[in-house]
Amino acid sequence: MTYSRIAGTGRYLPERVLTNRELETMVDTTEEWIRTRTGIERRHVAADTQGTSDLAEQAARQAMEAAGVTAADIDFLVVGTTTPDLVFPNVGCLVQRRLGIHGCPAFSLEAACSGFIYALSMADRFIASGSARCALVIGAETLSRIVDWNDRATCVLFGDGAGAVVLKPADEPGILSCHLGADGHYGDLLYHPYGTSRPQRPGDLERPYVQMKGNEVFKVAVKTLEGIVDETLAANHLERSAINWLIPHQANIRIIQATAKRLDMPMERVVLTLQDHGNTSAASVPMALDVAVRDGRVKRGDLLLLEAFGGGLTWGSALVRF
Ligand code: ACO
Repeated sequence: MTYSRIAGTGRYLPERVLTNRELETMVDTTEEWIRTRTGIERRHVAADTQGTSDLAEQAARQAMEAAGVTAADIDFLVVGTTTPDLVFPNVGCLVQRRLGIHGCPAFSLEAACSGFIYALSMADRFIASGSARCALVIGAETLSRIVDWNDRATCVLFGDGAGAVVLKPADEPGILSCHLGADGHYGDLLYHPYGTSRPQRPGDLERPYVQMKGNEVFKVAVKTLEGIVDETLAANHLERSAINWLIPHQANIRIIQATAKRLDMPMERVVLTLQDHGNTSAASVPMALDVAVRDGRVKRGDLLLLEAFGGGLTWGSALVRF
């Protein structure tokens, strides 16, 4: 039996940091409201010259270096993103070209904030089936491009960035299980109205920005994440105490606290980056993982629970022996 394991991690954050204080000068908000309601203190914003693929490329280079692999080794490339540079070529192909990788499947997939978990699950299955031997899995976003900077209810939440992992085959698991879900019936709670094919609804084109019923999303997120935590533990016949680190999607500190409570896990065992990164959608989980790997908290052999929840609505988890 072949399993996949994470051989290296990387991340990239754009240079420009936007603080809560600066947001006070842009919309009717306060530093304190943002911090206490969300946990966010600052976020990074991509330069005008940077697209999602630029961020993804840098994160990928770091992950490849950490894994000790070169472009010639990569035979599967997937990018979770909601903010592609173009409709096509997809972000996977743009990154493939930048890195000098030729011939392997390269694609991006859209599952909003769950995009990285979805992408990780795809790559894991390709490796476990023997169809790939070295997968580059990226979550990358430039959410700053699709939020309304005049809307205090959304613009204070999001940030830009990219995280990446390299997956390689192993005799022992690695990725023990991935659990994915979605419910399109909740689509209107969180969406972006601008697309290419659907006739737009009245008013959509005047507001081509993220639209969110935050309060309702919050409630579904807490309930769904509790369910997926239970599902992941049950599928692996594990007690809650077996998990060393929770690496959650970084949307709101209160959602994360609720998940940690479900796991009976002290917040010291939860990797938090939202204070510095904001909600970076598909990039948040791989960036948080990379932060904790590089600062020495996450060590080889640790059992990690990765989870995410986002527009769609979509959700997912991955249980990982690092
Ligand atoms: N500053 C000051 N006041 C604000 C701000 C702000 N930035 N934003 C909203 N408010 C006000 C509202 O207008 C409202 O005022 P009112 O009571 O006078 O009407 C009040 O604050 C409370 O608003 P709520 O929306 O009820 O605030 P809530 O406590 O729910 O926090 C938040 C809002 C932070 C958005 C929260 O609901 C949340 O985190 N939701 C989940 C987001 C999420 O998980 N999204 C999924 C991933 S994102 C993706 O997939 C792309």
